[in-house]
Amino acid sequence: MGQAYDKFLARQQKLEEQYNEEYYAKQHNRGKLTARERILMLFDEGTFEELDAYVPSAGSSFGKSKSVMGDGVIAGYGTIQGRQVYAYSQDFNMMGGSLGAVHANKITKVHDMALKTGSPVIGLIDSGGARIQEGVSSLNGYANIFRRNVLASGVIPQISAIMGPAAGGAVYSPAMTDFIFMTEGTSYMFVTGPDVVRQVLNEQVTTDQLGGAKVHSTKSGVAQFVYSDDANLILGIKKLLTYLPSNNIENAPFVPNDDPIDRVEESLRDIVPEDPDKPYDVKEVIRLVVDKGRFFEVAENFAQNIVVGFARLGGYTIGVIANQPKVMAGSLDIDSSVKGARFINFCDSFNIPIVTFEDVPGFMPGTDQEHQGIIRNGAKLLYAYTRATVPKLTVILRKSYGGAYIVMNAKGIGGDYSFAWPTAEIAVMGPDGAIAILYRKELAAAEDPAALKRELVAKYRSEVTNPYIADEKGFIDEVIDPAYTRIKLYRALKSLDKKSVSLPRRKHGNIPL
Ligand code: HXC
Repeated sequence: MGQAYDKFLARQQKLEEQYNEEYYAKQHNRGKLTARERILMLFDEGTFEELDAYVPSAGSSFGKSKSVMGDGVIAGYGTIQGRQVYAYSQDFNMMGGSLGAVHANKITKVHDMALKTGSPVIGLIDSGGARIQEGVSSLNGYANIFRRNVLASGVIPQISAIMGPAAGGAVYSPAMTDFIFMTEGTSYMFVTGPDVVRQVLNEQVTTDQLGGAKVHSTKSGVAQFVYSDDANLILGIKKLLTYLPSNNIENAPFVPNDDPIDRVEESLRDIVPEDPDKPYDVKEVIRLVVDKGRFFEVAENFAQNIVVGFARLGGYTIGVIANQPKVMAGSLDIDSSVKGARFINFCDSFNIPIVTFEDVPGFMPGTDQEHQGIIRNGAKLLYAYTRATVPKLTVILRKSYGGAYIVMNAKGIGGDYSFAWPTAEIAVMGPDGAIAILYRKELAAAEDPAALKRELVAKYRSEVTNPYIADEKGFIDEVIDPAYTRIKLYRALKSLDKKSVSLPRRKHGNIPL
């Protein structure tokens, strides 16, 4: 080929020079991997195909404008565990990973290809936001990305990993994807940084206090997964992908394992304490029911009164939602309602059946919750469950009171099968509240109100709250031996393999936001 080939090699050489020793050292000194190392680690070895590596930055007449090959983002496709995925990785070493017009075009290109081919798309974010020198062109770039995020929502899984700064516009693309991962200590997300906060509000905060991984995974609920460093975060993304389908017309991969589906788990008979007010860990229930070691929790540290995550049952992916009696007695508040609703929406979009483990005394009372909108936010959970057309199963472990009975996937809102353990308590409200309302006068007049209350509570429990009443009315399908929960759920799910529900024609529903 002669000269033509030499020119080709020279171009390659020039790109390699851009990624020199200094380039690697700069990023490693910040405790981070480079954009290149990250993307190569993400894909199966030798499968990553880079697109647009040589395109130069658009440049600008203003200030410190530079032109770098690839414009500060590495984009392309490859396989992860053998399945095709598209990804981009922002390069903080190149103008702070800021988003200029060319950078944005590279991202929208992989997004379009991912959508066209029904493949997940992953963004590894390390960016100072809109590139200041490029002005409105960079804003337009973000607008184009946001539009792709919305168009792809519910069609292909979209995953974002924050592995450095995500400032300004850089936060809103991740916010519209399905899952956000963050690294501890090296990542942060905020719309306006500490300098602006200080100027506008006279508040002193560090980047970590304002938008670090801890804040977003425990308080704001923006991030679902936190890992100690880049390498572990990438392993986390790969693990999540094993549970997900590539798009909304496929099912999640079936991954068989050696846990027998007819395993009888006798310890489940004793997991709910005799005392109905004593807590227990619902995660133990989940772990004993699903395939051994196959529970991957989502948003583990946020709204811990509800537990959500992916699991396998007989090798099939399921989405698990469970009230957690260990935290706030498992009651539903604003954060847990929104967390549950968002997870249900994801499962429903991607054909993942939902299994609910219920033990909920009701919605959280109080002015704080009422004033912040528990009505509006609790409605999100109700709406999400009701709208979901994937197979929906419930096991009532213990409390199932009031609105919470309905919200947590009652058959009346479209739950396919409801099972109850013998410890289930199903009624309009718990015994204390019910007795106080129904027997107020009698209790006030009684010689020994405590004794009368004890007697009435016992009667209420035996006549009203036991699960056999709901069972005999058909509101639950069966009171089951807890030891057989696993096989009962599996058979019910298999029976729903061909479930088909059609909803009324409409542009879209109006979920209470
Ligand atoms: C151009 C940028 C940049 C940006 C960083 N750089 N952000 N260049 N546009 N937005 C460049 C710096 O000039 C520097 O270049 C290099 O990246 C590294 O930045 P440093 O500041 O030295 O790094 P560090 O101290 O780690 O601070 C990182 C940072 C800070 C916190 C991200 O750079 C920062 O605050 N950047 C601006 C964040 C921001 O406000 N973005 C715009 C948001 S508005 P040199 O040449 O010196 O190496 C927005 C609008 C979209 O995004 C809204 C859509 C909804």
